[in-house]
Amino acid sequence: MSRYNKAKNIFIDSIDIDEYIELDSAEYSYNLIYDSVSRPLKMILLFGRPGTGKSILLNRIYQNLKYQKEIHYFDAPSLDQREFFRKFFKVVTLKDLPKNTEVNFTTLIDYCKSIQGKREVIILLDEAQMYDSNMLEKIRVLSDTRAIKFVISMHKTDNEELIAKEHFKTRIWETIELVNVNKEELKRYIHKKLLKHNLFDIADTIKSKHINLIYNLTKGNFRECNKMMFKTFEIYEYYDLDKKYKINDKKFSKKFIEMAAIRLGYIK
Ligand SMILES: Nc1ncnc2c1ncn2[C@@H]1O[C@H](COP(=O)(O)OP(=O)(O)O)[C@@H](O)[C@H]1O
Ligand SMILES: [Mg+2]
Repeated sequence: MSRYNKAKNIFIDSIDIDEYIELDSAEYSYNLIYDSVSRPLKMILLFGRPGTGKSILLNRIYQNLKYQKEIHYFDAPSLDQREFFRKFFKVVTLKDLPKNTEVNFTTLIDYCKSIQGKREVIILLDEAQMYDSNMLEKIRVLSDTRAIKFVISMHKTDNEELIAKEHFKTRIWETIELVNVNKEELKRYIHKKLLKHNLFDIADTIKSKHINLIYNLTKGNFRECNKMMFKTFEIYEYYDLDKKYKINDKKFSKKFIEMAAIRLGYIK
């Protein structure tokens, strides 16, 4: 199998924290969230464009705090409110809800009030732009019990986000924004990813001029960068198996990056 196959697969989107790369920007945001979660705040809003690292950040917080705190990660919401409340019921009451039973919201609120000051449950709510305003209102009411602390993560560009932000205007105590990274960080990201998987030779050939090109195409967005790198290595893999003479192991190919960009529709 081509070693470019391995390189390619490194850039599959993943929020597995074993794949986490320490970058200054990510560490900075991590510390902000970590501090906020430790303080008695009610709600924290984490926002940023898709692909800026929100989910992996939440997962890291979760993994690092799960033995010290009552903390739970809620991923992409189901469209069904009942699902959410069943899950919520379980983490708050520590009991399973009998099958086919619906959670009574008032009972849930009373329960939360009863644990106020005794327990603190932290819910990391990912993809919160998908919750409708009715759900957001319930989340607000839950957070007002002061027994539940929410970290609400949402995309920045969506219209829904504005609704949510408006909704929580007076409740959100802290806002943390994730942005695309700069060229240096992008370079470290790509290099560290490859080095983590022992692809030193390949990492060595990726120079600033390649990073510049990738940066111009992806604007430093992790997800876009993953797509670009995946496609580029896919092209490498193809030639490696079939037309090896087209590959120069010593020099990374700008042409392949450009071909990848065309295939992804970045360049027309
Ligand atoms: N610090 C990091 N270390 C490793 N991979 C990262 C890091 N930040 C982002 N990524 C990668 O970028 C992709 C997008 O990040 P993600 O957390 O899913 O963004 P968002 O939730 O904001 O859309 C992830 O799948 C992951 O592969
Ligand atoms: Mg996400």
